[in-house]
Amino acid sequence: MNITNLRKIFFDTFGRDANQEQVFFAPGRVCLIGEHIDYNGGLVVPAAISLGIYAVARKTNNQILHLKSTIDNAEYTFDLTKEISYNTKNSWANYPLGMAAYLKNKGYVLNGCEILFHSTLPVGSGLSSSAAVEVLTGKVLATLNNIEISRKDLALAAKDVENNFVGVQCGIMDQFAVAFGEENHAIKLNCNTLEYELLPLVLNEYKLVIFNTNKKRELAESAFNKRVSECSEALKLIQQYEPINCLADATLEMVEKYVANETLYKRAYHVVSENNRVKEAAEALKKNDLHLFGKLLFESHLSLKNNYEVSGKELDSFIEYAATNNNCLGAKMTGAGFGGCAVAVVEKTSINSFIEESLHYYKKNTHLTGTAYIAEISDCVKIL
Ligand code: GLA
Repeated sequence: MNITNLRKIFFDTFGRDANQEQVFFAPGRVCLIGEHIDYNGGLVVPAAISLGIYAVARKTNNQILHLKSTIDNAEYTFDLTKEISYNTKNSWANYPLGMAAYLKNKGYVLNGCEILFHSTLPVGSGLSSSAAVEVLTGKVLATLNNIEISRKDLALAAKDVENNFVGVQCGIMDQFAVAFGEENHAIKLNCNTLEYELLPLVLNEYKLVIFNTNKKRELAESAFNKRVSECSEALKLIQQYEPINCLADATLEMVEKYVANETLYKRAYHVVSENNRVKEAAEALKKNDLHLFGKLLFESHLSLKNNYEVSGKELDSFIEYAATNNNCLGAKMTGAGFGGCAVAVVEKTSINSFIEESLHYYKKNTHLTGTAYIAEISDCVKIL
């Protein structure tokens, strides 16, 4: 759907008004490497993608937040003068609502507004649709209410909403990528200090393919929170002997020495080894060594599968195919896992056959129909 059509739906829903509507966009993200590292204080390399969420928005002269999405055509209205809290019956509207609650709790008095959301991002499939809608709403509300908010504070606000309003103990990677992404660049982010470096993503004769397993992510949130608490248990064991602040700061020797419990050992091993892989992968990207970069992606997937245990037969089936295709340098699941999406580095001229064959292999092995996209690396949240 183009912007003209989106504006038309906006007017059909909310009518015409003297207040001027504006169009906003927030990208999704793909995590290239550094999976399940952000909440462990280590290094991650995500990139913003051109698939994302659009909002047409306009302020009103009351204090009602009126939301609609083209995904399900559902509409929600909330009185901003009243107490705002999470409610499952509000479905996707909880994310924008959480941002409004956050700003209200910071002491801002918000004008009412009307927002129409439209997504080109597959929702709930590991490409950060929730971070996109949160950061997007933050940008919309800040713009319409003349609130000065830096990109960093926008990302931190969205993370706060996810942690405290929605209840997922995620790290900062997704929100940061949505707020800081840049066209044709990956972001090397230190999740402890929030220092970051933009890495030019020079893929030459290769492109990134995103493969959506279309596997529904059941119980993903509770499994995610369980990993977070396993990591903090492992950290506590090491901290009895070593003065480290976060699990990503541990060494493999520390893990061997202090983490005896098998499950905690595997989780900690993944975190420390993945953090090391991120350093190597960032150097490989800088030197344009895509073969090494790809190899590290495959290694990352193996560790996510065997040590962190967040993959699944659907994601594994795609990776299995990717590993047999000589035109693919590397592939791994991306995001939280438990279904969702994977990313692969594929030689340009064979991309169509790669996609076709991988979809076929996937269907034969899982009886599910996947979807594949060629990823374009795009800019952060913005007013269009
Ligand atoms: C989800 C979370 C992120 C990160 C990834 C795994 O996307 O929101 O904070 O932990 O999973 O790397």
